[in-house]
Amino acid sequence: VTIEDQTLERGSGGELHQVAGPDTPVMTTAQGGPISDDQNSLKVGARGPALIEDFHLREKLFHFDHERIPERVVHARGYGAHGFFETYKSLADVTCADVFQRAGEKTPAFVRFSTVVGARGSADLARDVRGFAVKIYTKQGNWDLVGNNIPVFFIQDAIKFPDLVHAVKEEPDRGFPQAASAHDNFWDFISLTPESMHMIMWVMSDRAIPRSFRFMEGFGVHTFRFVNAENQSTFVKFLWKPKLGMQSVLWNEAVKINGADPDFHRRDLWNAIQSGAFPEWELCVQLFDQAFADSFDFDVLDPTKLIPEELLKPIPVGRLVLDRMPDNFFVETEQVAFMTQNVPPGIDFSNDPLLQGRNFSYLDTQLKRLGGPNFTHIPINAPKCPFHHFQQDGHMAMRNPVGRANYQPNSWGLGPREAPDAGYRSFSADEQGPKARLRPVSFADHYSQARQFYISQTPVEQSHICDAMAFELGKVEAPAIRLRMISHLLNVDVALAATLADKLGIATLPAVAEAACAVRTDLEPSPALSILS
Ligand code: HEM
Repeated sequence: VTIEDQTLERGSGGELHQVAGPDTPVMTTAQGGPISDDQNSLKVGARGPALIEDFHLREKLFHFDHERIPERVVHARGYGAHGFFETYKSLADVTCADVFQRAGEKTPAFVRFSTVVGARGSADLARDVRGFAVKIYTKQGNWDLVGNNIPVFFIQDAIKFPDLVHAVKEEPDRGFPQAASAHDNFWDFISLTPESMHMIMWVMSDRAIPRSFRFMEGFGVHTFRFVNAENQSTFVKFLWKPKLGMQSVLWNEAVKINGADPDFHRRDLWNAIQSGAFPEWELCVQLFDQAFADSFDFDVLDPTKLIPEELLKPIPVGRLVLDRMPDNFFVETEQVAFMTQNVPPGIDFSNDPLLQGRNFSYLDTQLKRLGGPNFTHIPINAPKCPFHHFQQDGHMAMRNPVGRANYQPNSWGLGPREAPDAGYRSFSADEQGPKARLRPVSFADHYSQARQFYISQTPVEQSHICDAMAFELGKVEAPAIRLRMISHLLNVDVALAATLADKLGIATLPAVAEAACAVRTDLEPSPALSILS
C-alpha cells in the first residue's frame, strides 16, 4: 500500500485525515464507538481549552499510560518463536507422558530465548547465560522445560537466588552496570560462593557469547524423573542439541556487534524463520537409576554438577523445529509465562533444592508480572487440550464455570470430575530425615567439575576464558576480591590462576582456597564440551 492509495482529507488546520474506505475499517474506541476525528482533541473553539468530557482523548491516553507491564525480574530481554516438537519413538517403557508415546507425532511448542541480567532494552551480545525456555502444549497440559544454554547453575539452594540476582544486577546506589557481570558486587558474591566455580568457568567461556540462538545447546539442568505406567521412576536429564552445531563470537566481535546492532540475535532468528531456514534442535535424555547415581562422587541432586556425556550418552528422543514468528511480540513473547511446575503425568521432580524453590517462584512471579491469577487465560499460556476446573473470578476473568455448579462434589451432575487412573500422580518416593537447614556433604566438591570443564577446552578456548576473566576482574576495584578469585582458581588450574594473576598485575599468588573436600585431578577432559572442536 502506498500513500497514494489512501483516502486522505485535509482538516481545518491543514492536517491530514486518513478516512475509512471500502477496504479499510472504521476506527472505534475500545467500547466500539465510531471515531470521526483522531487528529484533534475536543476543545472550546479552535485554540482551546480542552474539554474533560472528551472520552476519546481520555481513553486513548489512559490506555497508552498503562502499556508497560513489569519486566521479568530476571531474563527480561528475550525473543520467542512458535514451532513443534516431534517425537522420534515411544518412551512408554520409562514414561507415561503422552507426548512421548507415539513416534512421528507433532506437538505445538513455543520457545523463548533470553539473556539473564540485562533489562528489556539491553544488548543481545552481553556475556551472559542464555535462557532456553520451551513450552510444549501436550494433550495432558502444558509441559514447560525452563532451561539455560549452560548445563549447571551458580547456586545449590533456591534460598540464595535473590542474593545471586541482586549481586549480578546493577549496584543499588549507582544503578549500573545494567547488563554486565564485570563489577565488584558480582565478583564479591561469586568469590564468597565456592559452589559457583563450575558455572563461572562456563560463563567466562565462549558459551556465554553465542553467535546466535540457533547455535546454542539447551539444558534442563536439574535431574528430573520419568515415571511409567507401572509407577516406576527413572532419573532423567534433558538436553537440546542444535542441528546447526555450536558457534560463538569472539569478545571483540561481541563488543562491536552490541554497539552496531544491539538486536543482533533477534534479527538473526527473525530473518532465519522468515526466510524458511527453520532452526532445529534434538531433545536428548540421559536416563539413569539410583544405583548409577550412587556410583558418582557428586550428587545428581546438585545443580552445580553435570553427568559427563562420555559416561552417559544422551539419547535423542525427538526434535524441536521453530517455524513461525509470533504475530505480536508483546501478546506472545512478553506475556508468555513459563513455570517449572508445569509438568504432565509421567514427568516429575527430583529433590534438587534449586528446582524445588523454582517450583514456587515462577507461579508467584507470574501473578505479579501478568497482573493476577488469570494469566492462563492469555492464549499463549492456555493449554491446547481440553481443560475444565472450578476456578473463577479475579481480574480479567474470561472463563468462569458455566451453569449452576462452581464447586464439587455436587449433586447436579455438573462440571468436571477427577480421573484416578489418568490424572497426575506424584511419584511416591520414600522421604524421611530430621527437619533442619542442612546441606549434604555430597554437595561439597566445588572444584573438580570446574577443572574438568577447563581441561576439556582447546588451548584457544582456554585462552578466551583467561582473557574474559582478566577483562571482568580488571573492572573490579577491590583487590581482595581479585585475590579471592585467584585463590579459588588455584584449585581449578594452577597455570590459569598464575596467568590471570600476571594479567591483573598480582605479583604474589595468594594461598589456595580451602576446599571442603579433595579436588579430583584424575578426571579426563570431556571432549563433548568444546565449541571449537
Ligand atoms: C525466568 C526464578 C533458576 C531459567 C525466571 C523468572 C524468575 C525466575 C522469577 C522470571 C519469570 C517471569 O517473569 O516470567 C528463578 C529462581 C531460580 C531460578 C528462583 C532458582 C532458585 C533458574 C535456573 C534456570 C532458569 C537454574 C535454568 C535451568 C530461567 C529462564 C527464564 C527464567 C529460561 C526465562 C523464562 C522466559 O523466557 O520467560 N526465573 N530461576 N532459572 N528462569 Fe529462572
